[in-house]
Amino acid sequence: MTISVEAGQTAEAAAAAERADAPRVSLLTPDHTGETYATVRVRDAGPGIAREFLPRLTERFYRVEGQKSGERSGTGLGLAIVKHIVNRHRGGLQVESVRGEGTTFSVYLPEPVHAGVEAGLRRKTVIEM
Ligand SMILES: Nc1ncnc2c1ncn2[C@@H]1O[C@H](COP(=O)(O)OP(=O)(O)OP(=O)(O)O)[C@@H](O)[C@H]1O
Ligand SMILES: [Mg+2]
Repeated sequence: MTISVEAGQTAEAAAAAERADAPRVSLLTPDHTGETYATVRVRDAGPGIAREFLPRLTERFYRVEGQKSGERSGTGLGLAIVKHIVNRHRGGLQVESVRGEGTTFSVYLPEPVHAGVEAGLRRKTVIEM
């Protein structure tokens, strides 16, 4: 799994494709424009999720049939909670996935005006786990 954090992005850049030609769905879109965002991407090399299931991932208790997101079977609440938290921050949430290759979730959160530029936070940090 890889987690990357990138500051100073436009909403378009934050929601741009990370995997070429991957099915991609915006699960939450910010209602503000002209802001910059800090984007957190979580990428795995797991089973992936078929295109038709992507729009329903943030429904409470929704689990893709015959598929688990990890070792244990989950409650189906994780991504619903993520969406609520990101919505409170007026951010965005996006998923891209290719069956047999893996999944990338991107969360982008609005930055305080000018904060990224002045604090020199435009750089990108990548953590491999
Ligand atoms: N990274 C992933 N790779 C493949 N499938 C996933 C991934 N994340 C979620 N899913 C699918 O989406 C469903 C919903 O995910 P969600 O995180 O909301 O719930 P959960 O993982 O089942 O349970 P919880 O997160 O509450 O423990 C999962 O049950 C799984 O089928
Ligand atoms: Mg989960």
